[in-house]
Amino acid sequence: MFLKNCWYVAARSQDIKQTLSTRMLLKERLVLYRQQDGTVVVLEDACPHRKLPLSKGRLLGDNIECGYHGMQFEGSGNCVLVPTQDRIPPNARVRAYPAAEKWGFVWVWMGNIDQADESKIVEVANYDSQGWGLTAGGMLEIDCHYLWVTDNLLDPSHVAWVHRTSFAAPGTDDTPLEVQSFDDGVVVSRWISDQALPPYYAPLVKFDGTCDRLQHYEVRLPSVCINRGVYTPAGTGGDVDNLDERAYVMESYNFITPIDEDHSAYYWFQNYNTDADNAEVSERLNEGAIMAFEEDREILEAVHLGMKFKTTRNLNLGLDAGSLRYRKLLDKAIAAEQIA
Ligand code: FES
Ligand SMILES: [Fe+2]
Repeated sequence: MFLKNCWYVAARSQDIKQTLSTRMLLKERLVLYRQQDGTVVVLEDACPHRKLPLSKGRLLGDNIECGYHGMQFEGSGNCVLVPTQDRIPPNARVRAYPAAEKWGFVWVWMGNIDQADESKIVEVANYDSQGWGLTAGGMLEIDCHYLWVTDNLLDPSHVAWVHRTSFAAPGTDDTPLEVQSFDDGVVVSRWISDQALPPYYAPLVKFDGTCDRLQHYEVRLPSVCINRGVYTPAGTGGDVDNLDERAYVMESYNFITPIDEDHSAYYWFQNYNTDADNAEVSERLNEGAIMAFEEDREILEAVHLGMKFKTTRNLNLGLDAGSLRYRKLLDKAIAAEQIA
């Protein structure tokens, strides 16, 4: 079961044009297109007559025409034409999903239409901040349940083993973790003191010598994952609200959308407090992120199969405290939705 009353990323804005695109979200098939005024339409990808996917039809201006018997629907989902009869049956409509565009993505509200509220889309603190750079971001599909991805994004210690040549550095393997709970999410974090910079960040950081490093792994309902890394000269770390002016800050936004129980769509971008107009740095960071996500993908797809076909019990460790707490919170939210 999935949490429905929330916004999920369905696509990158740049990928939705005045043509029919399909996506599956939460096991629901959707058809998406852009109207002539630029707004994005998201409909159930099924004609109410014989459930032919509407994506098998065509766009006529802002209307979508079914490819079987030519029924036509507006972006609102209302039927405007049944070619073989004058009367349009009152129940001839397609489910329309509220859609919004923010942070370069198309967001879709998968639940009760009356509760859709754009202000509930996550804020990105430094998206437009002066002096902050931004990566192009991207999307990848991972063949695993989405909660293996949110687990991973509440698990700073995997870095020491999965990202050995990039994000790992002394202290990522054994520094204790702190877990904080909120009404809608969990943060797992730690400061690692006076260690060498990890190879990936060393060329980007603007100070020499060893660093204090913050790993801040945050997941908010339904599956918004914010990963903040701070690298600051050794001795200046420990207080995230009063950072040294030399501190390098990287904020990685990761939006995980369940496709079904075995597949997830992973959308992301990063922003960072240096090199605002340096396209080469932005590209290098994006390539680094893709490389790291491919390392995660290999592990998570194998974990998905390992857990799905396990024949003996698995166990939990202390490092799972954050992800277990998050899963409990999510289960509670899903249960509350069933009662409402
Ligand atoms: S299946 Fe769409 S009009 Fe018949
Ligand atoms: Fe990772």
